[in-house]
Amino acid sequence: MDRMMDVHTATALLAWQIEMGADEPIGDQPVNRYAAPQAAPRPAAAAAPAPDVAPAAPDPVVIDPVAPDPVAEARARAAGAADLGALKAALATYDYCDLKKGARNLVFADGDPKARVMLIGEAPGRDEDIEGRPFVGRAGQLLDRMLAAIGMGRDSPTAPVYITNILPWRPPQNRDPSPDEIAMLLPFVERHIALVDPALIVLMGNTPCAALLGRRGITGMRGKWQTVLNRPAMPMFHPAYLLRTPHAKREAWADLLAIQARLREV
Ligand code: URA
Repeated sequence: MDRMMDVHTATALLAWQIEMGADEPIGDQPVNRYAAPQAAPRPAAAAAPAPDVAPAAPDPVVIDPVAPDPVAEARARAAGAADLGALKAALATYDYCDLKKGARNLVFADGDPKARVMLIGEAPGRDEDIEGRPFVGRAGQLLDRMLAAIGMGRDSPTAPVYITNILPWRPPQNRDPSPDEIAMLLPFVERHIALVDPALIVLMGNTPCAALLGRRGITGMRGKWQTVLNRPAMPMFHPAYLLRTPHAKREAWADLLAIQARLREV
C-alpha cells in the first residue's frame, strides 16, 4: 500500500484534528512510547454504581510553625550585640548560612574600628579564608596601594580605615553570594555599620550595592554619592575588577579623590 499522503489530504486531516481540539500535536521533546510505563489494567466494572463520594483532598502543605526564619534570627542576634566583639561572637554561632560549613575562618573585619571611613566588600576569597582577615590577597594589596595614594590605610595612625565584607564566609569557588545569603547576613552588616558609626562608607562592587542600596550596576552607580543608614556612601569598582580591567583605575582614582574631599566636609 502506498503510505504517502498528498499535501491536500494531510492539511485537511490536520485541520480536522485542530477542529476536534487536538491543537498541540507536537511536544517540545520526542516521546519514546515504547519506553513509557505500561498503563495499569483497569479494574473490572463494579456491578453497583459507585457511591457519590467527593474526591480526596490533596495533602495539605505542612508549615512548621516553630521552624526558625534565618533572617529573623539574624536580626534578633545582631540587635542583641552591644559591641563589635559581641557581634563577631553572634556571627560565629549563627548556623543558618551553609557557607559557614565550607569556610575555614570567619572573616569579620580589619583596620581601625574608630576610623571615619568604612569600606565594605563582597566576601572573603581563598587568601582571606586562610588568614581570617579581609582583603589580604592580590585585590586587597591593590586596595592598600589605592588607599595609600590618598594617605589612608588600615594601619594608618592619622587616616585609618575599617574594612569588612557583606559575607563573613568564603563562598565555594568564589561564586557570587546568593540573594538568600545576602538577606540573612544583612542584619549583621547593618549592625556592624551602626556600631562602627563611620562618617562615610565605601561600597566596593555590586554585592555591597545590592545589599545596602538594593541595586546593582556598579558601572553606572560608581562615583555618585548615595546614602546608607543616614550617611554618605560612595559606590566604586571592586579592586578585583580593577586588576582585570586596569583602564578602569582612572575612574577609581576619581572616586578616591571624591572620598578624600568629602571627608573634609563630614
Ligand atoms: N574580595 C572581597 O570582596 N573581599 C575580600 O575580603 C577579598 C576579596
